[in-house]
Amino acid sequence: MQNEYQSVRAIFDPERLQVYIETYGCQMNVNDSEVVLSILQKAGYALCDKIEDASLVLINTCAIRDNAEQRILGRLEVFRLEKKKNPGLVVGVLGCMAERLKEQLLAHPVVDLVAGPDAYRDLPRLIAAVTADGKQINTILSHEETYADISPVRMDRNAVSAYISIMRGCNNVCSYCVVPYTRGAERSRDPQTILHEARELFANGYKEISLLGQNVDSYNWKGVPGSEQTMDFADLLEQVALIDPSLRVRFSTSHPKDMSDKVLYTMAKYPNICRHIHLPVQSGSNAMLEKMNRKHTREWYLERIESIRRIIPGCSITTDVIAGFCGETEADHQDTLDLFRKVGFDAAFMFQYSERPGTKAARHFADDVPPEVKTTRLNEIIALQNSLSLESNRRDIGKVFEVLIEGPSKRSDKDMVGRTSQNKACVFKASGYKAGDYVNVKVVDCTSATLLCELA
Ligand code: 5AD
Ligand code: SF4
Repeated sequence: MQNEYQSVRAIFDPERLQVYIETYGCQMNVNDSEVVLSILQKAGYALCDKIEDASLVLINTCAIRDNAEQRILGRLEVFRLEKKKNPGLVVGVLGCMAERLKEQLLAHPVVDLVAGPDAYRDLPRLIAAVTADGKQINTILSHEETYADISPVRMDRNAVSAYISIMRGCNNVCSYCVVPYTRGAERSRDPQTILHEARELFANGYKEISLLGQNVDSYNWKGVPGSEQTMDFADLLEQVALIDPSLRVRFSTSHPKDMSDKVLYTMAKYPNICRHIHLPVQSGSNAMLEKMNRKHTREWYLERIESIRRIIPGCSITTDVIAGFCGETEADHQDTLDLFRKVGFDAAFMFQYSERPGTKAARHFADDVPPEVKTTRLNEIIALQNSLSLESNRRDIGKVFEVLIEGPSKRSDKDMVGRTSQNKACVFKASGYKAGDYVNVKVVDCTSATLLCELA
């Protein structure tokens, strides 16, 4: 068991070429970096945790908002200094920003290599070609690539929870979003390879698996060409849940237009499917939802929330929201606040609209909400959500939850941190327990972000 376990973890080997990898953006990107490491390990590299030790630096990037890109441009300046110290250092930019900016990024003085999300198998060739011929680029998007046969090499600290990408790309074309352009068309991964990976992780001691996709509800495996066999997301979720009752299963992201009752009933049937749904709403105004091309209304969203509450009592619901989208009026903004109050989200990721070049919104609508108004509206949403999160946590005081321990708390190593099925972080004193253990805790107090607990 121990040897196999090692085979899916990053290995430190001073004899090998050293690669340093930094990852920005979503969980999908974290998993992509693990795929990249797997490909590079086969090509003779080992992961290192200091830039100074590396001969290759890769930065896996996000393009979702302008501030994500600015941060990465800032990191490239740091790499420029490293390159001065070590002129042989190869710097590669991967991921969504690589795909969006292509040659423009390759022209950056510090960048040797640009590879988009579907080009990672080509990395060993590209790296060799940099040394021989100078700058290299591959940003070809694919209709088939799912990296299905590649076992990602895990870089997590605790070996308790792991990501599995079940699909790639996105076909939804929300008008504000750059993802369909950076990650290409949607494709589902062969379920047998997903199940194999999940079983292997479980056999190697992992206790929690998160199934990832831009819109997991549109997962659809058409089977072997010519065969009638198909599999939807609910079927896949059930198969993963059946691996073992002690394996927790999470998933993200759900799309309100596609999330079916079949998925909800599957969750209700298996207690090891976590009681948490991340259901981005983006806006509470029908006019904005229409302009965002979300393909659902506020009423439809509220009906989905009712169904979750009816079918899976005790399920937490979190969301994403954008403040200050094109043409958003004060009344539209009030609709968002009102929807937040009606739903009472347990947590939310909240953003100001950031225009992305090439998207439908950038081409057709004026980014006309003044920056200070965007900030005011975002702050109002954040203040409301903080009070909703606190209310949600207060409702848990006195209740007992089973938590999966992730390790010592960042603040004090006398405290342990674990998560409830609802994905709430719990902090508690527990000697004699380790990461990966399940333990029952009672909530005694809370903040808006954390449940403060004691062993039950
Ligand atoms: N501006 C601001 N936020 C955005 N998101 C996606 N595109 C943009 C954009 N152009 C947010 C959405 C999405 C989350 C991942 O990022 O809320 O759900
Ligand atoms: Fe992930 Fe989207 Fe950012 Fe790409 S642009 S890294 S898909 S969040």
